[in-house]
Amino acid sequence: MSAKLFRQTVLLACLTVTFTDDLTADVDPELILQELGDGDVNCTVANAVGQVEYRWTRLSHPEWDHVYTQVLEFSQVSLDQAGVYVCEVRDTVTGKTTSDSMELIIHYVPRWNNDYAKKAAAYTGTAVDIKCVVLSLPTPQFYWMRNGLNITTSAEYVVTSEGNTSTLRVNNVEDTNYGDFICRADNYVGGRNFNIHFSPPGIPDSPRECFAVNVTDRGAIMECAKGWDGGEPTTFAFTGVEETTMGAADQSEVRIRVDECQRRLGHST
Ligand SMILES: *[C@@H]1O[C@H](CO)[C@@H](O)[C@H](O)[C@H]1NC(C)=O
Ligand SMILES: *[C@@H]1O[C@H](CO)[C@@H](O)[C@H](O)[C@H]1NC(C)=O
Ligand SMILES: *[C@@H]1O[C@H](CO)[C@@H](O)[C@H](O)[C@H]1NC(C)=O
Ligand SMILES: *[C@@H]1O[C@H](CO)[C@@H](O)[C@H](O)[C@H]1NC(C)=O
Repeated sequence: MSAKLFRQTVLLACLTVTFTDDLTADVDPELILQELGDGDVNCTVANAVGQVEYRWTRLSHPEWDHVYTQVLEFSQVSLDQAGVYVCEVRDTVTGKTTSDSMELIIHYVPRWNNDYAKKAAAYTGTAVDIKCVVLSLPTPQFYWMRNGLNITTSAEYVVTSEGNTSTLRVNNVEDTNYGDFICRADNYVGGRNFNIHFSPPGIPDSPRECFAVNVTDRGAIMECAKGWDGGEPTTFAFTGVEETTMGAADQSEVRIRVDECQRRLGHST
């Protein structure tokens, strides 16, 4: 009897060593922080035989400095830190490696999307959509104000909002509609007012950030970013450079991208 009991005990001891599962690493799939907030994520490991080495990397950011601790800490996070972080682990005895990843999501107060002008223009008697376009996470709630009063949908105005964009439609523009509208965007982190100026069509804004993208001994390609169009279709042309650049263009491959440069209302060159 006692010999049989002894054999069973040995058998059990063997089983626990033989049947270890594979090394696993586990991190929460998501960490949501507010801009300038702090937080950390713990990389927990199971079934390690020996000591574990940790290494955090950042997906698509090879320049990011690795972190060699179990817990990855964030403090005062900025928007550019959002992304996927990977915890790589290595068992120093078995040499086995594995990994798990986590997405850092940063929530922030809505801000203006600088691809859009805080302006709109239309002639009286027409209908116009005035756009409020923000960057925001999570998606904001919008409302519009005029002279301190909320705008509600009526025969005069229709407000529609979807995602990061809110549109105020003025059904039939009258002189009294010209002036400043306030678009307000709120999410749980905070809210901001954006002042949007509505006027009759006018002179477009100057092109911005003009620079040579390709300079060779035969010429150059210039590119500019569009400014606000003033409410009307606009044309683009280089001025004051015809003699030098067009002369060169006749005998070589010089290309000049004129479509987005030097705009003049109602005048094409
Ligand atoms: C991380 O998780 C481990 C368990 O794997 C635990 O012992 C440790 O205290 C945790 N660290 C933090 C900072 O939460
Ligand atoms: C305008 O509407 C917003 C959202 O519905 C509300 O929070 C706010 O108090 C309103 N403001 C006025 C002046 O009625
Ligand atoms: C709003 O803008 C943010 C920042 O570009 C983006 O992450 C988010 O997906 C956008 N939301 C929608 C609904 O388009
Ligand atoms: C710059 O010009 C060279 C020679 O014409 C051309 O091979 C190259 O693709 C151009 N680069 C750009 C960015 O346009």
